Parts: sequence; structure tokens; C-alpha cells
Amino acid sequence: MSDFRGQHILITGASRGIGRACALEFARLGGRLAVHYNTNRAAADTTLSQLEGSGHIAVAADMTDGDAVERMVNEVLAAFGRIDVLVNNAGIFEEHPPLETGYAAWRSAWTRILSTNLVGAANTSYCVSRHMVAAGGGKIIMISSRTAFRGKPEAPAYAASKAGMNALGQNLALALAPHNIHVYIVAPGVVETDMAASDKASPAWEDIRRQSPLGRVATPEDVAHTVAFLAAAGAEMLTGGVIDVNGASYLRT
Ligand SMILES: NC(=O)c1ccc[n+]([C@@H]2O[C@H](COP(=O)([O-])OP(=O)(O)OC[C@H]3O[C@@H](n4cnc5c(N)ncnc54)[C@H](OP(=O)(O)O)[C@@H]3O)[C@@H](O)[C@H]2O)c1
Repeated sequence: MSDFRGQHILITGASRGIGRACALEFARLGGRLAVHYNTNRAAADTTLSQLEGSGHIAVAADMTDGDAVERMVNEVLAAFGRIDVLVNNAGIFEEHPPLETGYAAWRSAWTRILSTNLVGAANTSYCVSRHMVAAGGGKIIMISSRTAFRGKPEAPAYAASKAGMNALGQNLALALAPHNIHVYIVAPGVVETDMAASDKASPAWEDIRRQSPLGRVATPEDVAHTVAFLAAAGAEMLTGGVIDVNGASYLRT
């Protein structure tokens, strides 16, 4: 049974979707949460209002702004004194099919997506891991995607950002293991959140559901369950691992 009593957990992008579900799960298991958001304060407040326990806070930062990320991490440390678990979850998805996207839009999509999904996670990990080293250890979890392996021809920058996140997590696992910091990568398939709203509204949804022999896509709670399992004591030998949460919708060996 996972127990996060006395632990302080920072989840980026916890105002909605998978991040919110992770926050609820950690709070249910006794943790104290820093709920990060970008612009949607009302949604972050909704997450806060649903958390069990007390002492939780909301913090804002645009992941594309490295200075804002550093200020946000310092704000959490000022409030909590330490961060035991970091979940790098904030992210965006945008379509930019190569043959149908103008060059200016193509370049701005690559910059926006990589700086949010990949560089944002790298900078947050950098800032937090220095404090984890000083504190004697910690856990970092990357929310990647099945897309890193399966591909997404209409969104190559998104797929590349998630493949990059896998490499980021694996290399941080190597670099930080001597400091008792364990790094895990979670790769969900389609998850029913705002990000999948346009898929859900499209005729393709039935096919997407059937990609899994379970006949459904993942819920944010499915992902949160795995994240909490990895962050709990006992999962340390999984460090550097990429854990699929896709209902066997995409198999790899
Ligand atoms: N849903 C899926 O099918 C799926 C599948 C595989 C992987 N994932 C990954 O899971 C993660 C969470 O996805 P989700 O579906 O829960 O997304 P979501 O419901 O769209 O929520 C996105 C979260 O990221 C935050 N965010 C977006 N841009 C940001 C920026 N520039 N700076 C800081 N925060 C920013 C949002 O903050 P605000 O509320 O303030 O805007 C929000 O909290 C993402 O990394 C996504 O790539 C999702």
C-alpha cells in the first residue's frame, strides 16, 4: 500500500486531466501537493478543492519560460521545504501535418511543442533535482506517450517531444541514481481528457477505443494509479524504465 504521508509532491499541469488525477491520488494517499498550472487558475482551484488533506498549494509557470520554472520551483520549496516527488506532466498537443502546414506555422509548432513538453520538463527536473540531491533523494516521473513509439504523422513534433522525454528520463536515471533519485517514464495511450476531446468528438473514436482489447481508452485515474505505484517505495529497480499504460493497444518488445 503506497503511503505518501509526510511527502511533498509537485505535479506540473495539475489543473486538469492526468495531472489533476495524479494530484487526487497522491493526496488520497496522504501527500501534500503543489498543483502547478499555466494560465487556468480556476481549474487549479478546482483541483485544490477536491484534494484530501490540507496544506496544498497552487503555483503557476509557463513551461516555455525557464526563469518562470525556476521561480515556481523556489516558490514550492519556500512553502514546503522539500520536494520528494516531481511529476513532469504539463504538455500540449497540436497537429501540424508536414505536407499541409506552412513553413512559419511548422517552425512555430516545433518551437512551442518542444519547449513546453521537453525543455519544460528538462528545466523543471534540473531545478528540482538539485534540491533532491541536497535532501538525500527523490522520485521523478515523466508523462510521455505511446506516440513516441507508435508515431503520429500529423503531429511529428509532439511524437519527437515524447521520444525526447524518454531519453531525458533515461539519462537522468543514470545521472541521478548515485544520489538516490529514481526516474520513471510513463507512456499512456489515448487518455480521456481535454487533450483527447477532438478525437472523442470525431467518428474515429470508436476505432480508437477498439485499439485496445479492453475496448476502452485509459482514464486519467488509470495513469495516476501507475504514477503513484512508481513513486512509492519499492519500485526503485524500475528506474530508467518506460512503462506502457495503453491497454495493449500498442505492443513493443
Ligand atoms: N490525453 C491523452 O490522450 C494523452 C496521452 C498520452 C500522453 N499524454 C500526456 O499527458 C500529459 C497531460 O495531458 P492531459 O491530457 O491531462 O492534458 P490537458 O488536460 O490538456 O492538461 C494539460 C495541462 O498542461 C498544462 N500546460 C499546458 N501548456 C502549458 C505551458 N505552456 N506551461 C505550463 N503548463 C502548461 C495545462 O495548464 P492550464 O490548465 O493552466 O492550461 C494543464 O494543466 C501531457 O504531457 C500529454 O502529452 C496525454
